[in-house]
Amino acid sequence: MAALLAVEGLSKTYRAQGREIQAVADVSFSLDRGETLGLAGPSGCGKSTLARLIMRLIEPDTGSVTFEDRNWLALSGSDLRHARRHMQMVFQDTHAAFNPRSTVETAIGEPLRIHQIVPAQDRPAEIARLLKRVGLPPDFAARPVLELSGGQRQRVALARALAPRPALLVMDEAVSAVDVSVRAQILDLLVSIQRETDLACLFVSHDIAVIRAVCHRVAVMEAGHIVEYGETRRIISAPQSDTARRLIAAVPKLQHNQGDRHAQP
Ligand SMILES: Nc1ncnc2c1ncn2[C@@H]1O[C@H](COP(=O)(O)OP(=O)(O)O)[C@@H](O)[C@H]1O
Ligand SMILES: [Mg+2]
Repeated sequence: MAALLAVEGLSKTYRAQGREIQAVADVSFSLDRGETLGLAGPSGCGKSTLARLIMRLIEPDTGSVTFEDRNWLALSGSDLRHARRHMQMVFQDTHAAFNPRSTVETAIGEPLRIHQIVPAQDRPAEIARLLKRVGLPPDFAARPVLELSGGQRQRVALARALAPRPALLVMDEAVSAVDVSVRAQILDLLVSIQRETDLACLFVSHDIAVIRAVCHRVAVMEAGHIVEYGETRRIISAPQSDTARRLIAAVPKLQHNQGDRHAQP
């Protein structure tokens, strides 16, 4: 079976004030349905640029992206709008991710309406179902998004991303700003949702401990390049690159397999 997402030779150089920064350099990888691929690496190595290229928030200089067996970079107009339903993103900055006036109901209802996921009269029930799925009570629907805690807002961001029933979720440092106990709950949620729905995830984090908890495989980036790519456990137990060694050294007491949420007890 073909991969859900296949990236080949993707590159992006920013040009700003006469300077050139090659943020992503000849990156290739693939991702299967139901799989979580970690994108690890130090700040500034190009993780967010790569995530934004895949989401088509920015356009690459070169390279190809195949998503659900289609030439993803060639899609435009209504084809692209329809296809976007299947690829959703959760960002780190939950404040900026929402319209400041929106309530939980309008935030989650919008993708349901735009992509016509359920008939209008069924939207409140679908919103309640999505809230329950991310561990929030149904009466949260009426709450203004900006009055929620960071962790609650990130759950709403997850519910909104799940609303169009995507095949791929791109999470860019999505749990980096929440505290450790909330982080563990959201990672558990992600893994249980994946068990139910075959959702694939591109999981971006500078924190190898978080990557280890949820990612089957990991791509380690440095200065725009993937310097190491493989099974998460293998890379953590026997890193081959200096970049991977440094990421592992940054987490005290990182032990093989410990905390792996996909591992069977
Ligand atoms: N819009 C932009 N214009 C110019 N340079 C940028 C822009 N966005 C990111 N960069 C630069 O590209 C490199 C990669 O950034 P980024 O993809 O945000 O890395 P990461 O997410 O791994 O921290 C950095 O050197 C960053 O300063
Ligand atoms: Mg980033």
